[in-house]
Amino acid sequence: MQHIPPLWLSPETHLARTAPDHPILYFSPRVLHEVAGRFQRGFPGLVTYAVKANPHPAVLSNLVAAGVTAFDVASPAEMEAVRGASAEAVMHYNNPVRSEAEIAAGIRHGVASWSVDELSELDKLDAVPRSCEIAVRFALPVAGAAYDFGSKFGAGADEAVELLKAVAARGWRPSLCFHPGTQCEDEAAWVEYIHVARKIVDAAGVSIARLNVGGGFAANRDGVAPDLERVFGAIGAAAQEAFGADGPQLICEPGRAMVSESFTLAARIKGLRQNGGVVFLNDGIYGGLVDIRDMGLPGRVEVVAPDGSRRTGPRRPRVVFGPTCDSLDRLPDGLPLPDDCVTGDYVLFPGLGAYSSAMSTQFNGYGLSDVATVIELTGQPPA
Ligand SMILES: Cc1ncc(COP(=O)(O)O)c(C=O)c1O
Repeated sequence: MQHIPPLWLSPETHLARTAPDHPILYFSPRVLHEVAGRFQRGFPGLVTYAVKANPHPAVLSNLVAAGVTAFDVASPAEMEAVRGASAEAVMHYNNPVRSEAEIAAGIRHGVASWSVDELSELDKLDAVPRSCEIAVRFALPVAGAAYDFGSKFGAGADEAVELLKAVAARGWRPSLCFHPGTQCEDEAAWVEYIHVARKIVDAAGVSIARLNVGGGFAANRDGVAPDLERVFGAIGAAAQEAFGADGPQLICEPGRAMVSESFTLAARIKGLRQNGGVVFLNDGIYGGLVDIRDMGLPGRVEVVAPDGSRRTGPRRPRVVFGPTCDSLDRLPDGLPLPDDCVTGDYVLFPGLGAYSSAMSTQFNGYGLSDVATVIELTGQPPA
């Protein structure tokens, strides 16, 4: 029998009724459907989802319900998670370094598209059916993202030319892919990649049916909603300019931007020290707040009392520690919290759907695993 989780009105309602003493992610399927629709209407090509950002079964099944038919997977465990949500979903295995066992799992799961960034990795794929696509991942020194993905994966343009030739010569469907880096706020990064893709295709003398422009789409930071449509428009225009009307089908694989806004994290204040200047939360950088260490705060932090009402006092900066015994477990920039917050209150962090529970550890017996489904992510205090 299908398990249907209880549906709460809002985080405030749930907090007031259940007084949880562990961190919780609140999930709004409505918001996820809205964002998925925005990608599907606006992106000029196939929209897939990067499972790594949040592999929760409710995320995957809601994306399938929203019409997402293909998923970027990085491991056999992510393949299993996708299969749990859909028997038909198409999988793109875009982690370019794989063990023999992982390759066998990909073949077993019917992966349709693989990526490579070195000949040594292409050599490992001999057993992959020739009906599959193999996308050569290339990397350029472009700016715009929160940090550089090219330092780990991606062939240089010249190497990509040789790899693309090798893919075609060995009988697979040749393709190209790139990733401009996560939280990329400048569409010029995609534009540059797309023009270099055209040069690689020309130099290799190999035509490609598809071009995967990666993830990297920015999520809301500091309350500023990203203009995804502007980025979609720039990508479409660049592809048209570089390849003309008969160019390759575009694919995108957003993780962060797809799922961030559909979750709010609630962490409880365990203790206040030094006249309230130092706050201890029951979640931190070893848990659901890990991404804040690299990305900074998503902004819009609110504090809710145990009865669900908002703390509205003037804000002052606090040092914020997580619950573990490690002194590194501290939010790098602290938080401005209302003057009237007390121990037992909850701090709500909106926009924490991506790289939160997916990266949470169980260090010191803490960590983030609980998800509650809500209709709205910002609610009024319960009556
Ligand atoms: C191959 C690939 N695709 C997509 C993504 C998702 O990126 P983002 O969450 O920035 O959209 C990643 C992130 O690591 C990735 O490695």
